[in-house]
Amino acid sequence: MQNPIIVALDVPSTQKALKLAEELAPVVGAFKVGKQLFVNGGPDVVRKLRGLGAKIFLDLKFHDIPNTVAKAVQSTTDLGVDMLTVHASGGSEMLGAAESAGHEQAAMLRSEPPLILGVTVLTSMDDANLAELGIDESAQDRVLRLAKLAAGAGLRGLVCSPQEISMIRGELGDGIQLVTPGIRPESAEADDQKRTMTPADAIKAGANWLVIGRPITGAKSPKAAAVEILNSINPELIPESEQPLPEAVDCSECGQGIKLDKNEQLAGKYHCPYCEKEVVHKR
Ligand code: C5P
Repeated sequence: MQNPIIVALDVPSTQKALKLAEELAPVVGAFKVGKQLFVNGGPDVVRKLRGLGAKIFLDLKFHDIPNTVAKAVQSTTDLGVDMLTVHASGGSEMLGAAESAGHEQAAMLRSEPPLILGVTVLTSMDDANLAELGIDESAQDRVLRLAKLAAGAGLRGLVCSPQEISMIRGELGDGIQLVTPGIRPESAEADDQKRTMTPADAIKAGANWLVIGRPITGAKSPKAAAVEILNSINPELIPESEQPLPEAVDCSECGQGIKLDKNEQLAGKYHCPYCEKEVVHKR
């Protein structure tokens, strides 16, 4: 099983993104760069994050005429991005053009084509919001219609809410990659997410990737939060070098025996009360 955590780097600057990414790279599967960070840091933030060896999900939700979207996908492929998003409501011609552009550009670069993810109905939209646009369908019916349209146009992945996973899996089978935000570990705040699922439940329901922002980036120790999530999904996902420390260790700096709290055990670092240093434990 791959590490399914995609950390949403919803921060305002390249510097903040890199600081988080350097800490988290060993324990997560990919980083999501959205509009806020991209508008601030530009393609350079993507190049710098790639420099850490991390997979990148560029979430700019392209929606335009087929030719323009194809060119945007071409440039995104040049950047070495692993996943990107397009609005499925752009229609099958636009979706097909996006998928072809990714494949053609990757073939030229002799690289892997990016996984292009279709966004169906934004989770901020309900039936009343759709009616406002003259759409009579329920949000759920529309999700399914757009999911089928995207898969029919050749897309190999979709972004969907945790509640939609089973329905989409049921209709489209196991071949499609499902990427799911709205993930909250049991211990975390829901923030502004209304319909959430725990990481383990979302994986059980059939998600391939989990987009997780604030429960990790807003935690006291982001690395400890990510390791705890991996532990809840499948402890084998935690790399050997990042296994939680035991409750008692000898400080790597001064050798004194000290007790660690849960966060320190998961993060692999602690404040030593004897030598007064912030210590990254040497295993
Ligand atoms: O902090 P949190 O875990 O809520 O972050 C979730 C991320 O997923 C954010 O970047 C948010 O924009 C994104 N997202 C979402 N719901 C969607 C689509 C994307 O929360 N339906």
